[in-house]
Amino acid sequence: MKKIIVANQKMNLSYDDAKSLKKQMDELCFDNVDFIVSPSFINLNVFKENYKICAQNCHHMKQGPYTGEISAYHLKLIGCSHTLIGHASRREFETNKLIKCKVKAALDTALIPILCIGETAMEKQLNKTAEVLKKQITIPLGDLSEEEINEVLISYEPVWSIGKGEALSANIIKDTIEFIKQTIRGFSPASKYKVIYGGSVDSSTINEILKIDNVDGVLIGGAAVDIVKLSKLIKVIK
Ligand code: PGA
Repeated sequence: MKKIIVANQKMNLSYDDAKSLKKQMDELCFDNVDFIVSPSFINLNVFKENYKICAQNCHHMKQGPYTGEISAYHLKLIGCSHTLIGHASRREFETNKLIKCKVKAALDTALIPILCIGETAMEKQLNKTAEVLKKQITIPLGDLSEEEINEVLISYEPVWSIGKGEALSANIIKDTIEFIKQTIRGFSPASKYKVIYGGSVDSSTINEILKIDNVDGVLIGGAAVDIVKLSKLIKVIK
């Protein structure tokens, strides 16, 4: 099975910058990976021509008086295959309960939810990682059917590692993903869902991370918007 690479462009790239990055990306070969681009809303259409596209967020209602929001339903209609949900940048003002509604809305419109979970530096320091991850998994997924959980892509991204140039060691990633799977086994027989890792992945760490047997791929941020970094990362993948 090909490893998943989610390229999260965050709130970067003007429309023109996105078009020029796409042009440069079209010169690269992504055949050996399952590559998914997650641009800002205004740039989804730019990448849709040659790539699977993933929104960075969605609203949980189908449509209605929600000024400034974009629903999972509308994202599906414009061609998104995935949507990020609960990325660390958003968890500052989103609760696990809201994230649960978004995961369900994505599943109900046949969008693959990429449920982002991860502890903050403070939570890690206080030894609360297990407790935090357990809630971030159990609240959004606890009431879903086995089939629904199997559709979800979980992205484990320790908040303190995002954008810091410091990816976790392979052992810790492996053990944490095992903990995530064990937690899910506590309430569901689902076993076909995928788990990826995010947090400062670059060309020097990607192979070590992709080699971990319970890692199905990675989410990249910094390396997603810089063509030199992206090209290096894609080319080194074994
Ligand atoms: P980064 O971002 O690769 O820049 O650390 C990862 C993320 O957004 O989770």
